[in-house]
Amino acid sequence: METLLLTPNEENLLLAANALQDGQLVGLPTETVYGLGADALNEAAVRAIFAAKGRPADNPLIVHVPSIQAAESLCHIDDRSRRVMEYFCPGPLTLLLPKKPIVPEVVNAGLPSVAIRIPSHPVARRLLELSGVPVAAPSANTSGKPSPTTAQHVMDDLCGKLHSIIDGGCCQVGLESTVIDMTREVPTVLRPGGITPDMLLSVLDEVAVADSVLRPLKEGEKALSPGMLYKHYAPKGTLTLIKGSEQAVQQLMKKLYAEALQQQKTVQLFAFSEHLPAYEGCNVKCIGSLKEPETVARQLFAVLRQADAEGVDVLFSEVLPAKGVGLAVMNRLSRAAGFRTIDADREG
Ligand code: TXA
Ligand code: MG
Repeated sequence: METLLLTPNEENLLLAANALQDGQLVGLPTETVYGLGADALNEAAVRAIFAAKGRPADNPLIVHVPSIQAAESLCHIDDRSRRVMEYFCPGPLTLLLPKKPIVPEVVNAGLPSVAIRIPSHPVARRLLELSGVPVAAPSANTSGKPSPTTAQHVMDDLCGKLHSIIDGGCCQVGLESTVIDMTREVPTVLRPGGITPDMLLSVLDEVAVADSVLRPLKEGEKALSPGMLYKHYAPKGTLTLIKGSEQAVQQLMKKLYAEALQQQKTVQLFAFSEHLPAYEGCNVKCIGSLKEPETVARQLFAVLRQADAEGVDVLFSEVLPAKGVGLAVMNRLSRAAGFRTIDADREG
């Protein structure tokens, strides 16, 4: 199939909306990452999403709707969840809510809950309105690869496997939505994102964060969110995170860089803008500002993809505190590194 790359004008959005109604797959921009959308109530269309991504069938999808009212036909919303939705939606938040029978089991892998998101991106919103169907959409990457934050990333991974991709430019947030399980007594963040636990506390008395957010699952441990089971966000090269005091980190990064060069490897360093001068003469990529984790969130996936495109074998990255949006950044960075971390203070 020839995949159309569409600019987001009304005519093209109608074309894409018709494709969705027809059971076809459409790549759509959201404020977090690009999604691979299909009519959530059309089982065959939903199966096609799993096939296109190479995604395991036991990893459930998020259903996108334009409003709380549209969500109500798919799930049960109690007062507490409604408060959260009224405050944060539309926005980069996904709520796990008790599912109604209308949602086919293929969407949510047979679980009792369904993941609901009301995106704020104007193109996503217009597409949802025009199609009039709830849209199941995982991130529009090949399973295991970093999520796409541009239309070109979607094209690179999935060209020929979907009807069209709507080009809405670069994604504002850059990391996938915060996933909060509202079916638990204490609402629990399963995947951190742009809406932080602190922000959620402005409308909830209590918020828990799944402790597997910053560590690998233990042997035999059940994943609260099936997505946490799978290798994620991984570049082709081997990424290692270097933590510790600023000076020790910079010294070790440069030492490891020199060693890799000696072994004839293509090596790259990921560093914050504030520290770039320390790595003069090295192949270094700026991943944003240490002081503004949002800037790191916005470019992390693009930088990981770029390293792949440049054929980088070995990568070393600085880290930032796992606070605020930094928690989401470290969740993705840790997974991209397969949790390989060196403490520069101990190493030195
Ligand atoms: O920002 C986002 O959330 C993007 C855009 C396109 O909306 N979507 C996205 O979808 O990241 P995906 O499929 O890549 O990630 C969804 C995550 C997975 O980890 C999945 O396991 C989890 O949400 N999930 C979905 N439904 C669930 C459920 N009923 N119970 C537990 N986890 C669920
Ligand atoms: Mg994904």
